Amino acid sequence: MIMHPIQQRGQTIKQYDAPTTIESALKLLADYGKRARVIAGGTDLIVELDRNQRQGVDTLIDLTRIPELNQIEQLANGAIRIGATVTHNQIVASDLLRERGVPLVQACWEVGSPQLRNRATVVGNVVTASPANDTISALWAMDAQLTLRSLTGVREIPLRQFYKGVRQTFLAENELVTHITLPARAGKGIYVKLGNRRAQAISVVHLAIWLEEEPAHQTHTTNTVAFPRVKHVDIALGSVAPTIVSAAAAEQFLQGQPLNVDVIAEAARLVGVGVKPISDVRGSADYRTDLLPIMTKRALTALRDGHAVLPTDPAFLQAATNGLFPTGNGLESSHSQDDMIHTTINGNPISAPLGTHQTLVDWLREAVGLTGTKLGCAEGECGSCTVFLDGMAVMGCLVPAARAHHADIMTVEGLPDQSGELHPIQQAFIDTGAVQCGYCIPGFLMSGAKLLEEKPNPSHEQILQAYSGNLCRCTGYYKIIEAVHAASDVLAANSPS
Ligand SMILES: Cc1cc2nc3c(=O)[nH]c(=O)nc-3n(C[C@H](O)[C@H](O)[C@H](O)COP(=O)(O)OP(=O)(O)OC[C@H]3O[C@@H](n4cnc5c(N)ncnc54)[C@H](O)[C@@H]3O)c2cc1C
Ligand code: FES
Ligand code: FES
Repeated sequence: MIMHPIQQRGQTIKQYDAPTTIESALKLLADYGKRARVIAGGTDLIVELDRNQRQGVDTLIDLTRIPELNQIEQLANGAIRIGATVTHNQIVASDLLRERGVPLVQACWEVGSPQLRNRATVVGNVVTASPANDTISALWAMDAQLTLRSLTGVREIPLRQFYKGVRQTFLAENELVTHITLPARAGKGIYVKLGNRRAQAISVVHLAIWLEEEPAHQTHTTNTVAFPRVKHVDIALGSVAPTIVSAAAAEQFLQGQPLNVDVIAEAARLVGVGVKPISDVRGSADYRTDLLPIMTKRALTALRDGHAVLPTDPAFLQAATNGLFPTGNGLESSHSQDDMIHTTINGNPISAPLGTHQTLVDWLREAVGLTGTKLGCAEGECGSCTVFLDGMAVMGCLVPAARAHHADIMTVEGLPDQSGELHPIQQAFIDTGAVQCGYCIPGFLMSGAKLLEEKPNPSHEQILQAYSGNLCRCTGYYKIIEAVHAASDVLAANSPS
């Protein structure tokens, strides 16, 4: 039977390799050539493969088992080095970056949902090269450098020189981005974004600013208020043009000026000079043109006044893992279509045949027979496929099935205890009537259970954060939130004091 194109699944992946050193990843990249694509979190690539947008690619080289790549380090010269598999949630949790890289932390916090941020990497965001990608403008304003490696050598290039055009970069076919480096710069920064909703929204407009002020004695006093003068400023605009762009006219004007109301108003007026905003499904060019000065004015004022806000004690859905997936010796793997996956699911060793073309959720349902995890959107938007991968909540529809090899997976079937007694969150969903059609519920239970493991007494805000990647079209959410509070009460009552 020949299926209609809309019924057909995406591109077939025939080979999956997970090396544990950079050298072996580079060798695989050179050997496989055009047929291979590097995968980190897979949150862009799996969607592209599903939409047949990577013609000729039938091999994935997974970087997430390489230990050298998942670290955030401060170098001797004060610069900060971010490895290629560092995730958005790792950035949000990093004390070093919360102190020295505020725009990047704010941008990472804006990406998708907790399950997505547990897998999606900053480098993946940079290489995908969409002008709407949140972290690129932050890294642009912070003057980040990229380290590119191939078997033949290493190149260090400024991020600002990495882009050719929309979704196009100067990365060579045989190269990996191994690190991003933030230079040690004086100053402070901010990132602001406007999307069409508060979570899981691609930007309509975003911007990042890095500002260095003159020393205090250079301040300009109006009446009794002292305004700092600008020594240097970088303003990067995202989602308004085919690539991220600098607001050159505003940057030039601000040089040496005191940051008072009039100066900020003029900088806001100048911010769009030379920029030709785009129209797309998210907003018209006119709307973007109107937004730019408003957002610039608010961002500059907040930055001057020290009001660049970071999330306090946010919900990551990663419990005690520190956001790190296991890496290193013994975890390397190479799978072709006929090979088996050996893994642990809900505490039990499981071996099942591999479809290298499958995602984790399809494999769990079709090869392992665990049908509790549901497939909704198949592109990371709805959360019904939420499972735990090595202790972290992830979207199962965006994980290649072969990534399960040597991993520790938990599905909704694993929530009850060994005697079969329901997890408190399952019982609470029943008791509060938090279920209607039920399709989304396995995903809500998994996110809720991981939240309670991470924060046994979550605030309302933390519950909203934890559920920002789970959609329900029936319940209206109130009962679901009530159920989490109820489960938290039960856990508190049962915990040894
Ligand atoms: C539901 C959903 C919501 C999203 N929301 C947002 C959002 O709000 N903001 C936003 O900016 N993005 C968003 N994204 C896009 C995506 O999550 C990010 O771009 C993410 O950072 C990509 O990282 P990754 O590790 O998953 O990349 P992958 O998908 O693994 O890779 C992306 C690309 O980079 C290449 N690549 C990865 N690592 C390397 C490397 N080290 N060297 C060379 N090439 C490499 C891959 O071959 C691929 O072409 C969303 C995606 C989904 C599915
Ligand atoms: S998020 Fe995976 S099926 Fe919707
Ligand atoms: S209960 Fe029906 S989609 Fe949530």
